[in-house]
Amino acid sequence: KSSGTQSGPLQSLSQFLPCSSSPSLPGPPSLFIIGNMKELAHDHLPIHFTNLARRYGNIYQLKCGNTTMVILNSSEVIKEALVKKWSDFAGRPISYTAGVVSAERRTISLGDYNEEWRAHHRLVHSALQRCFHQSLHDVIERQALHLRKILMDYEANAVDLSEDFTVAASNVITSLAFGKEYDKSSPELQQLHSCLNEIVALWGSSWISALDFFPILRKFPNPVFHRLLKEVAKRDEIIKQHLKNYKAQDKKNGDTITGALLQGLEKYNNTDEGVLLTDTHVHMATVDLLIGGTETNASMMNWIVAFLLHRPEVQTRVYEELCTVLEGRYPKYSDRHRLPILCSLIDEVLRLRPAAPLALPHRAIRDSSIAGYFIPKDTVIIPNLFGAHHDPAVWTDPYSFRPERFLEGGGGSTRALIPFGAGARLCLGEAVAKMELFLLTAYLLRDFQFVLPEGKSSPPDLRGVASVVLKIKSYEVIARPRPVTSP
Ligand code: HEM
Repeated sequence: KSSGTQSGPLQSLSQFLPCSSSPSLPGPPSLFIIGNMKELAHDHLPIHFTNLARRYGNIYQLKCGNTTMVILNSSEVIKEALVKKWSDFAGRPISYTAGVVSAERRTISLGDYNEEWRAHHRLVHSALQRCFHQSLHDVIERQALHLRKILMDYEANAVDLSEDFTVAASNVITSLAFGKEYDKSSPELQQLHSCLNEIVALWGSSWISALDFFPILRKFPNPVFHRLLKEVAKRDEIIKQHLKNYKAQDKKNGDTITGALLQGLEKYNNTDEGVLLTDTHVHMATVDLLIGGTETNASMMNWIVAFLLHRPEVQTRVYEELCTVLEGRYPKYSDRHRLPILCSLIDEVLRLRPAAPLALPHRAIRDSSIAGYFIPKDTVIIPNLFGAHHDPAVWTDPYSFRPERFLEGGGGSTRALIPFGAGARLCLGEAVAKMELFLLTAYLLRDFQFVLPEGKSSPPDLRGVASVVLKIKSYEVIARPRPVTSP
């Protein structure tokens, strides 16, 4: 089987076959005990998994210790698992280290799919919805204007903008969560970022994942794990202080997520729902939003600028569209339907460099099947979104940066674009992320032209560094103010 998927009558038939009769999943040869650990030690897993798909098909397995992982590499098989059979695959792996970083899985992102998670998810989702309608646009506009001022102050000098993008994205979340924003130099902000970044980086390291695959290793000293525990304690202290300060304020309101969550908690616990949500759920939801909403959006902004340096004519077309449609004013999110070239730019960068290229791992809650293969309960499912976005069966010239593929007649397929995942575990911040990427990009491209620093002939390296978030290596750029910039 060249594609690794079955279609037509064979597929329908195989879904009813007992497990022993269904074909066994392809995959690289696995060595006793260590299994396919070698494949998991690759420095850029999304690219490596995508290359393995060319050999083993769009669905294959890897083994490590007692864990079987199934890697899904096309939007068709990903949607079969996450949308069509969502109730079979909505779980998260129950790992020791996930428990440690998530107060025993009381986060949305690492919580397993059960009654408690559903109640928690409903609470956070409705708090976000409320902020989306009441304050999100204003919050993002303020950050966009602030970013504009910072870029003006650089006076067209060559700079690395990554920290400014991180501060803007983080301020959107802290404004939503606590009604607070920070300056780049604020020690409070630096402490928060360094601790969240450390947690994500340490948790993604093989020193930590080895503890999940080989439980015996937990008996030995592990300095990396020790550092992780210290950072988690630091993180919890910072968030606890924020929540304490928030509760001590006179002016508590439902405009902030924390206010909406606390109000929702009271309401929820006064109904007879059978699950008790506590302050820990509010605490961990804040962690989810800060981790989920900062580096993802910041890295997308870095990628957008980098890709534009590779094709300056795309930047010119977006600028001309902004001038024609907006006639000098700043954009609103409702303008997006009239700005197709800008939207195609954002979609193409989300396709080529999805911020969470391997999504988050899922777990089969019960025996099921994908593409005709039997998938036993507790199998870990990895949706390779990066691979799906580079599938040559769907995308013409998949590795090229061609935003025009999403425009009329360009041959693109937004249906196969899944940077936020799909189904029951769809990214909780998708609406926030989309509005933020749109407004920040529109504000910046309206007022600045991004160019390479003088004497630098080659644009930034686009391979990226893959951990949980796919980031670009740091690079410098000049933000040259456009001639007429005031509204
Ligand atoms: C989960 C992508 C921004 C909060 C996810 C997942 C992906 C993703 C692929 C995993 C879906 C799965 O498990 O199948 C992105 C991208 C972003 C972004 C590409 C920006 C461009 C945000 C923002 C927030 C956020 C701004 C918060 C405001 C979350 C949370 C989850 C999640 C809480 C866990 C959902 C669950 O487990 O059910 N995101 N995300 N993300 N994201 Fe995002």
